[in-house]
Amino acid sequence: MAASTTSTPFEVYRFDPSKDSAPRYDRFTLDLPAHTPVLTALLKIRTENDPSLTLRYSCRSAICGSCAMLINSKSRLACQTPVGPELARHGKIVIEPMRNQPVVRDLVVDQKPFWDRYRKIEPFLKTDARDPMPVGRENPMTPEQVDRFHETPRCIACAACYSACPAVEADPEFPGPMALAKLYRFVVDPRDKDSKNRLVRIQPEGLWLCLRCHLCTEACPKDVRPSERIRDLKEMAIAAAGVSEPGSRHAVGFKDNIAEAGILNEFKLVRQTYGPMDLLRQLPQGIKVARKKPEILKKPDPIEGLDEVRAIYKALDPDAEDR
Ligand code: FES
Repeated sequence: MAASTTSTPFEVYRFDPSKDSAPRYDRFTLDLPAHTPVLTALLKIRTENDPSLTLRYSCRSAICGSCAMLINSKSRLACQTPVGPELARHGKIVIEPMRNQPVVRDLVVDQKPFWDRYRKIEPFLKTDARDPMPVGRENPMTPEQVDRFHETPRCIACAACYSACPAVEADPEFPGPMALAKLYRFVVDPRDKDSKNRLVRIQPEGLWLCLRCHLCTEACPKDVRPSERIRDLKEMAIAAAGVSEPGSRHAVGFKDNIAEAGILNEFKLVRQTYGPMDLLRQLPQGIKVARKKPEILKKPDPIEGLDEVRAIYKALDPDAEDR
């Protein structure tokens, strides 16, 4: 029996920077079974309505990573996203190119910025001339060692995480979620001889710019969970290089600050985060904020239930000294 179909409205982003002054959205309506992948629908539009619609795809099986795009504002693989749930939730399907990369045409973006940031983390095993890789035989790892990075090889470099990331949008220094997840993979690989340097170098190169919003993990179609790998990198970076950067000082200060009173002492946190020179640079901004919100200069009273907060800290780190 043929699957029943539903009238499905699409709004598809169209833009050719070589001749259009601004993007537009073209509307199409197709009768489709709910399980139809968005990619199949777009190819139908291209075949039956508009052969000039430009998009990128290859495997149609969630393997090559080339069909990532915005589907109702979320970065997704078009070949893996069925139209039914999108229609049920949004009443239409809006298709746009990925964010954080310039549009080449319609749904095709220029991935150069994505790959440039990735290249910066030197995504390859580094050896030591004094301890070279064995030649002519395997250099095996134990199952436990492989388990430490079993998620990251699932990455298909679709750039959905990069498109979803507000830190990428805000700061050209931020390497991006995929690059950092891959960096983690090399840091924990026992065959890599540059792990410690990698952790030291990545701190000023953008590790702490991650906003911990977890949008990358939500966007990742392969459950690599980049935000969790970034969290692991931050912990390892502190272990390797100490609390030496404003980012790491902020993280540790935040934790101590909450343990002290159960509520953030914002004035103290700024002092914990910045050294004297940086503090001076922040002064004009600090004065503006303090004028608007003078209470931040006051040490906050401990919250009710501070014992419970401290019990959580204790459960997470039983060896820590009691406060
Ligand atoms: S076409 Fe290959 S991942 Fe979608």
